[in-house]
Amino acid sequence: MKVLITGGAGFIGLHLARQLAGSGHEVVALDSLSDQVHADPAASVARFPGHVVQGDITDEAAWALLERPDAVVHLAAETGTGQSMYEVERYRHVNVVGTRFAGQAAHSWGVPLVAVSSRAVYGNGPTSCREHGDHFGAPCCDAAVPTASKEDDPHCPVSVYGETKSEGEGMLVEPAQHIPVTIIRPQNVVGPGQALHNPYTGVLAAFLARLREGKSLVVYGDGSATRDFIHVEDLATLIAWSVANPPGVGAPLILNSGTGVRTTLDELAEAAIAGSPRADVEIEHVPVLRAGDIEHACADLTRLASVGAPTPRWTSHDAIADFIRASWDTPGATSAAWDDALDELARRGLVQGNHG
Ligand SMILES: NC(=O)c1ccc[n+]([C@@H]2O[C@H](COP(=O)([O-])OP(=O)(O)OC[C@H]3O[C@@H](n4cnc5c(N)ncnc54)[C@H](O)[C@@H]3O)[C@@H](O)[C@H]2O)c1
Ligand SMILES: [Zn+2]
Repeated sequence: MKVLITGGAGFIGLHLARQLAGSGHEVVALDSLSDQVHADPAASVARFPGHVVQGDITDEAAWALLERPDAVVHLAAETGTGQSMYEVERYRHVNVVGTRFAGQAAHSWGVPLVAVSSRAVYGNGPTSCREHGDHFGAPCCDAAVPTASKEDDPHCPVSVYGETKSEGEGMLVEPAQHIPVTIIRPQNVVGPGQALHNPYTGVLAAFLARLREGKSLVVYGDGSATRDFIHVEDLATLIAWSVANPPGVGAPLILNSGTGVRTTLDELAEAAIAGSPRADVEIEHVPVLRAGDIEHACADLTRLASVGAPTPRWTSHDAIADFIRASWDTPGATSAAWDDALDELARRGLVQGNHG
């Protein structure tokens, strides 16, 4: 079948497109080839295993020019959590209006839609303690322990990015009454092909840059915060499965994507070092808290397993090491780019603590 992938030329889109093309499907990308993501747009187009239509998802005319596919996968988005705190209008426009148009297009074609949202809709992961029970948003008390996010948990986003992802999901409720809609909420996605020169996303690309320069890895906070890192291949497999297994119409089927296992930021740094040839690099902690940052995140995979969707094959540790190994010789920004992005946040009053 023919699958239209918005944001198909990006990190997750390319892995998905290769999987789909590898199993005999035709893939078409609708992608603006944004210069924050694509250092060499022509190379991004050449890598994509199908036709790339350069266009903006917020431009109705771009949608009108597309031929009817058999399914739509919606990935295109603005993805920088920190950047979203000051580029508010741009984030809202692309992530909410763009998602509305994706839903409308799939509805008008009468084809299934798989939309990729984010675990950012949960904000801080839930916590639980004997006295207060389950708690969403900030931890209830010092005795609270983090628990995994379930798909029916309330949305408590703490960044504009998270808010726009939550509002974007809301845009799909109406189309889901007419067409099958799956919404996937990935945790932190890692793997080969991740943007290495976009300092507005992912701590891991910053670690790669610092490792290559032989600099210590800078962890914000005391290193005990946790995340759930999912390998991009496992996410691509889940999206491809969702394309092949559309849910019934009525309401969106929402699925978490993660490993279900927590990794501390210190373990993340250790896994990055382990995947590199630089065993001598040290881990440094700095008391920095950026607006929009969260303490704990982890996916509950109960629903994923119950609908028969594929569960991840990579552990977070191996996924992190795989990213470092695969990216070691790929050109990317120097660590100064991440320092500049942090300075930019600090200038705007979005950083607490001393980052020197
Ligand atoms: N990477 C992660 O850790 C992660 C985690 C959770 C959710 N997600 C979500 O997955 C999706 C894909 O993320 P990714 O990591 O591949 O990001 P990416 O930046 O590599 O890819 C996004 C693609 O969308 C394109 N794009 C951006 N704005 C556009 C617009 N207005 N019109 C058309 N195309 C546009 C970009 O050019 C890029 O090719 C996003 O919706 C993101 O929010 C990613
Ligand atoms: Zn409590």
